[in-house]
Amino acid sequence: MLSGFFYSIKIRIRTHGIFAVPSQSVQSTSMTEKFIPIVDHRQQQAVLRVPSRLEEPTGQVMDAFGRPLHDLRISVTDRCNFRCVYCMPKDIFDKDYLFLPQTSLLNFEEITRIARIFVAHGVTKLRLTGGEPLLRKNIEKLITMLRGISTPDGRELDITLTTNGSLLARKAQSLRDAGLTRVTVSLDSLNDATFKQMNDVDFSVSDVLDGIAAAHDAGLGPIKINMVVKAGLNDQEIVPMARHFQNTPHILRFIEYMDVGASNGWKLDDVIPSAEVAQRINDAGMTLRPVDPNYNGETAKRWRYADGDGEIGLISSVTQAFCHDCSRARLSTEGKLYTCLFATEGHDLRALLRDPLGTHPDLAISSVVAQLWRARSDRYSEQRSQNTLELSAPKKKIEMSYIGG
Ligand code: GTP
Ligand code: 5AD
Ligand code: SF4
Ligand code: SF4
Repeated sequence: MLSGFFYSIKIRIRTHGIFAVPSQSVQSTSMTEKFIPIVDHRQQQAVLRVPSRLEEPTGQVMDAFGRPLHDLRISVTDRCNFRCVYCMPKDIFDKDYLFLPQTSLLNFEEITRIARIFVAHGVTKLRLTGGEPLLRKNIEKLITMLRGISTPDGRELDITLTTNGSLLARKAQSLRDAGLTRVTVSLDSLNDATFKQMNDVDFSVSDVLDGIAAAHDAGLGPIKINMVVKAGLNDQEIVPMARHFQNTPHILRFIEYMDVGASNGWKLDDVIPSAEVAQRINDAGMTLRPVDPNYNGETAKRWRYADGDGEIGLISSVTQAFCHDCSRARLSTEGKLYTCLFATEGHDLRALLRDPLGTHPDLAISSVVAQLWRARSDRYSEQRSQNTLELSAPKKKIEMSYIGG
């Protein structure tokens, strides 16, 4: 395992050395001086050991707190064509930022093999994420390959994708034809100036709305719209967004701005609690009533409008953490398994995939996955909420653009 100790060096030029790292972790001090940590967070990993006794998957595996494994989120690229200020701030993810090289990415056969192993352990939902997953070449081919997997009792998987919508108008039909079940689209404002200020690449609201319409026409519903609310930046858009999507089949979800990653400069003051979001919507005359969850471990608390059609979701990972029934595992673009969004250490499944593992290679990987999940005790958001003011956040958290939303 790499040392968890975190060194910094102060330099006056950008560096591309093998151990020096991406400007991702750079903290600006002045125009010319930068503090650059010399250990890349993405390299933090535990050594995986294949258990001596291999075991057949049983269709269900529980972690240390009795939480089953249901949801595998697969990041297919760490690149994005947006530079959302809360996720990939431009001054860090700039032209000198070292994204993962093509050779380190899992190929589609490897992703499908891992997905099949997870499904045998009880996963029923696959979510493709990024960065921006539609930037991955031939993503439709991967979707078709994943569609070929079914659950141990013969049911179809829920295969979904989180996108910024920029390429959706062009790709919606081919994604549907490839076997995608539905999409979730990120949209933080209906106001062009605010949206452009947030995506920081001058992308217009109307192009995302066109993508949403194309996805709807292609049958990729119910479409969820994810809005990250950042105080003072787009909170004035809460009510207009609610009004716009009320009486549509789309489900608008308000997400509390999280302290994920290490580059967005998160502060508690930037968070608008979900309770306040609900209050503002109610005060604007759109009365809400609660709805039962769709499934155990759902991120969003569901609400419907008392008058008229429409559903919204409130995702409160800061003020009402939902770790107690979190059933999500995350696979990075280069094949590391993370058992929590806030994990600092990934488990290198790619090394296992690419190594000869005797006569039962899949069973060996499957046994490792079962072992990792059983040992899982992550509950970062709950621990943080218990201690919000005195944040005990690890300093080397992975970036959302690396591991997916
Ligand atoms: P559905 O399958 O449609 O229910 O999707 P989902 O809510 O599981 O996934 P989605 O990617 O849409 O999640 C929405 C947002 O919730 C993400 O962008 C994150 O901000 C947040 N989120 C998702 N999963 C987690 C998690 O495991 N922990 C925390 N703290 N936040 C999460
Ligand atoms: N807090 C909450 N959600 C975030 N996302 C990205 N960064 C953050 C953050 N700091 C979400 C975006 C998008 C998905 C890719 O991740 O809303 O829906
Ligand atoms: Fe890209 Fe999504 Fe991150 Fe925005 S939130 S920079 S669209 S990955
Ligand atoms: Fe799950 Fe970790 Fe998020 Fe808690 S903080 S809900 S354990 S991913």
